[in-house]
Amino acid sequence: MKTAKVAIVGFGTIGSGVARLLVEHQERISRHAGRPVQLARVVDPDLSRPRNITLPKGLLTDDLSKVTGDPDIEVAVELVGGLEPARTIVLKLLESGKNIVTANKALLAEHGQELFDRARKLGRSIAFEASVGGGIPIIAAIGQSLSANQIQSIRAILNGTSNFILTQMEEHGRDYAASVAEAQRLGYAEANPAMDVNGSDAAQKLAILAHLAFGTKVNWKAIPRIGIDTVEVADLRYAKELGYSIKLLAVAKLVPEGLELHVSPTLVRQGTPLAEVRGAYNAIRVIGDAVGQVFFHGLGAGQMPTASAVVADLIDTVVGRTAITFHTLELWSNDRRTLVTARDPDSVPGRFYLRFNVDDTPGVLAELAGALGRHNISIASVIQHETEEEADGVVPLVIMTHTAPEGAVRRALDEINRLSCVHEGTVRMRVGGSEETHR
Ligand code: HSE
Repeated sequence: MKTAKVAIVGFGTIGSGVARLLVEHQERISRHAGRPVQLARVVDPDLSRPRNITLPKGLLTDDLSKVTGDPDIEVAVELVGGLEPARTIVLKLLESGKNIVTANKALLAEHGQELFDRARKLGRSIAFEASVGGGIPIIAAIGQSLSANQIQSIRAILNGTSNFILTQMEEHGRDYAASVAEAQRLGYAEANPAMDVNGSDAAQKLAILAHLAFGTKVNWKAIPRIGIDTVEVADLRYAKELGYSIKLLAVAKLVPEGLELHVSPTLVRQGTPLAEVRGAYNAIRVIGDAVGQVFFHGLGAGQMPTASAVVADLIDTVVGRTAITFHTLELWSNDRRTLVTARDPDSVPGRFYLRFNVDDTPGVLAELAGALGRHNISIASVIQHETEEEADGVVPLVIMTHTAPEGAVRRALDEINRLSCVHEGTVRMRVGGSEETHR
């Protein structure tokens, strides 16, 4: 049987994990692939950095042409990350006849159409299980296992770093910066952790899932997103008092007006499955019209969980399964009919938790309530704890709203934030409601 030679391009955290699986478990992987699988090359500009795997001699190179110029290499794994040079590298690899496996959600969310069109023209495939949900097989689940269904909604924790940070803050009252540093040390965070904490990483992953599940072509930048970078330990305490945990949720929901999409820190009812997702875990709740509710839970970031998904894609590609699904799914293709368009983000309704830092003086509450009222936003409750006189006279004020369109809330906050009695640091979060089902 012909040996399937594979290459890794990008020898960082995930690349080392993939190399470990391929080198240390070659026999198992070959058995699952039905023929010998051999790591033939690893490409990275940094030849000296220590990694937690010792490669067989001569494998590591900084020269991509050792892969593009070797016709025996069938599959290349792109683990460079980011947009460039990753995009150029994938195009070169496709041109040289390689099938691609990638974990790069930013690349797919930004250049999916170009890369998939190129692969189709060249008769190659691109597999991307590791791009969403780390080790959770959500791409295969939505693309294949749930294909009898019309997916109705996806409600998900898609960023392990944010969930890790929120868990540290909630359980240990640990400060935000220390939690970010720890997430980076553990290899969960992106090279630029801003993408993790400002909701961009989750929005990119949501755009991929929305395309797969609903055929919706949406630019991830058009998905309204709020990050966790404004959340304070105090918000987690208020939420707890109200019976909620805070999670960075990515939501896609099919309604008659189209597909509702948003990423936002969300108050999730305690005792529901999503509220119990801790640390770097991700979870994805999918509702399909035939299957009902399905819940996926697993490590969404980190070396070996992500490597697990990458190597599964490698095996699928070697077996030939990827080529079949790649062509039938017609992802990021102009030929694929757009089945559902995204709903105008401003019209997407929700209940909101708002926290303001305000002067503790008469009339302030009336000013805020007036601004909300002018935008037709109804107040459900107000929390202001009695405090000792603050030295600077600034106190937190929490307002929970009834259901209102996102655009109206955003506009009301723009107005409120300009008031002289309102100080920096306004927080806006969604509040999960009846859609949170208990076990
Ligand atoms: N940085 C990502 C996360 C992992 O924290 O979830 C890779 O997608």
